[in-house]
Amino acid sequence: MKKIVILTGAGMSAESGISVFRGSGGLWDEYPVEQVATPEGYRANPGLVLEFYNKRRRQLLEVAPNHGHELVAALENDYDVTVVTQNVDDLHERAGSSNVIHLHGELMKVCSSREPYNENYVKILTSDNAEIGLGDLAADGSQLRPFIVWFGEAVPKMDDAVRSLSGVDVFVIIGTSLNVYPAAGLLDYVPRNVPVYLIDPNDVKVPSNRPVTVIRNGASAGMEELITKYLK
Ligand code: APR
Repeated sequence: MKKIVILTGAGMSAESGISVFRGSGGLWDEYPVEQVATPEGYRANPGLVLEFYNKRRRQLLEVAPNHGHELVAALENDYDVTVVTQNVDDLHERAGSSNVIHLHGELMKVCSSREPYNENYVKILTSDNAEIGLGDLAADGSQLRPFIVWFGEAVPKMDDAVRSLSGVDVFVIIGTSLNVYPAAGLLDYVPRNVPVYLIDPNDVKVPSNRPVTVIRNGASAGMEELITKYLK
């Protein structure tokens, strides 16, 4: 089976109604990143940060995977697929993707604020228990915090993402502005002879001089085009 690795970003979930981060109306227009997506912001006002992620989790429970997520999942019928996502939503999994690496954490999980990467203390939230507040503690007695990689924190899953590229035959980028590292740097690990496709309705500055086939479309229509024009 040919191997496909797909790097996705917020644009993958845009058609599901989840706002992207950058560009007009993006999440970072509404909330200052420093306050809600950094360890310093969390230390300064943990209650505000917990509520920010409770709000995003409530929204996630209201939305569904879009056709693009479904097409990505369906690729598993014909290819060995690894999805490397920057998204913290679980829409790839809910669409049926079985091999998803979350570089920036997962919204439906919370963890120890003392040892965020210690999987023993990671707790999975559910639709009827989707919020955490001050005083909700992890098994190690520390305050529970979102299982999200904040700016400035390590990205432990990057190693798995790089390893997933061994033997890759096709690399696809969907719905990311390629602004954030190390995620955006994954492209540098793709062997030069491997074709790269980029699906995005807007112009994306690709931080590499290698040839990239651009599919100027949204995630769903773009995946249709990729499958009919390039993967058949
Ligand atoms: N289909 C596909 N792509 C889309 C769509 C759509 N319907 N709508 C918008 N896009 C594209 C935008 O053109 C943009 O290139 O999705 C991309 C979204 O870029 P960002 O908002 O920067 O999101 P992302 O690249 O995922 O951000 C990376 O930054 O804030 C951190 O941790 C956060 O994981 C996030 C990381």
